[in-house]
Amino acid sequence: MKNDYISEIYEKDKLVLHPYENFNDRGTYNRKLITKSDNIYLYDENGNKFIDGPGGMWCNNIGHGNREIGEAVKNQIEKMDYCSPFSESTEISAELASVLADLSPGDLNTIFFTSDGSTANETALRFVMFYNNILGKPNKKHIITRDKAYHGSTYLTGSITGKDREKNNFDFEKNFIHHLSSPLPYRRPKDQTPEQFCDFLVKEFENKIEELGSENVAAFIAEPILASGGCIVPPEGYYKKIYDVCKRNEIIFIADEVVTGFGRLGHFFSSEKVFGVVPDIITCAKGITSGYLPLGAVLFSDKLISDLKHDSSLFFHGYTYSGHPACCAAALKNIEILKRDKILEHVREIEPYFFDKLNTLYELPIVGDIRGKGLMAGIECVINKDSKEALVLDKAIGSRIDEESIKLGLIIRPLYHICVLSPALIITKSQIDDLTEKLYLAISNTIDQLQKEGLWSNQK
Ligand SMILES: Cc1ncc(COP(=O)(O)O)c(C=O)c1O
Repeated sequence: MKNDYISEIYEKDKLVLHPYENFNDRGTYNRKLITKSDNIYLYDENGNKFIDGPGGMWCNNIGHGNREIGEAVKNQIEKMDYCSPFSESTEISAELASVLADLSPGDLNTIFFTSDGSTANETALRFVMFYNNILGKPNKKHIITRDKAYHGSTYLTGSITGKDREKNNFDFEKNFIHHLSSPLPYRRPKDQTPEQFCDFLVKEFENKIEELGSENVAAFIAEPILASGGCIVPPEGYYKKIYDVCKRNEIIFIADEVVTGFGRLGHFFSSEKVFGVVPDIITCAKGITSGYLPLGAVLFSDKLISDLKHDSSLFFHGYTYSGHPACCAAALKNIEILKRDKILEHVREIEPYFFDKLNTLYELPIVGDIRGKGLMAGIECVINKDSKEALVLDKAIGSRIDEESIKLGLIIRPLYHICVLSPALIITKSQIDDLTEKLYLAISNTIDQLQKEGLWSNQK
């Protein structure tokens, strides 16, 4: 690309307020300009090639540059671009609803389409409020969530999010939202086994219900693996136990499968196949179209829907783009490709290799924990492996590692002192080798830098 043109684009980009911008240095630096994508790679304006370690934002499941999706979307737009989902139906959204109902566990057969993951979770929460009001339980309103959860960027989903930095300087709902401890085994109290930690978490949930009164608790919402909270895999058996508590107390269990759905853990939905529970509500987005177009969906159980059958109130909730035909066409083609190319089987097969390779990073003195499942992983950096003290510096260690990785042709997702990976699900063994070698070197180079700057020393 010509330099003049690139400068012009950068000038124009200063007009964009990007997500998670800092107003202080806004406009003072240029982001990487991505001009091409293919397979597991992104290319910048100078033709430099990078492994897309986070798979976009946990969403690029079938890989970049798939022309079949483009064709399907083009054909749909040429045939029928848009009509109001409030008053009309389309073949393509009906087809997709039927495919989702088939793929989902249990009796989750009613599908509400949304624009993205935030609006899917917002819909689930608003549905729960509506449901209890209709059922004559206006006090059953409390929502229980967890620290380090991320559920979106609307007022309500921002409120159930448990990440402090996402709440800085915002107002959020406090009256009926409650956060439990993050279920991260690595950071459990020293004197607890993982089993005791699990029991502690379940007890904490039961105590919270008792404190609020089960008649006042409407729902528990959880990502099966907390994604942007640092790729947190709860202790074995946690979900089943929490689910049983929900059932005993008539609390709606909402699984936020925005990241874990559509193959990330080797299944279309992970709640049942990986964690052994059939939620009352599942929300999904991202991988549903592999990120090619924005789309979210909420799947409701037959039980919830039939409980409302006697009532004639309108569910006054909907989006202009609920079930947008082009997005549904992308999703249907994406699901077809995931099945046809046996991509979910590939994830299940390659998962042990992915983690064997990542585990070589334990050789590095600042790598304290490597965790994850399927093709999502978090690498947590610590000052000292025994004390597990988080490696927090003037500038997040994750960002330093990201800068070093980029020099080597790898993009990671830095989350403070954690590096997160969720590459396209089509990644091969040799691409995993390449990714882990680059990351190994990037972390080593970062350690050298920290030592030179006197910011860290190997105390062992
Ligand atoms: C688990 C989870 N839920 C919900 C969301 C929100 O999705 P969206 O950004 O599409 O609104 C995200 C986004 O990262 C997520 O990771």
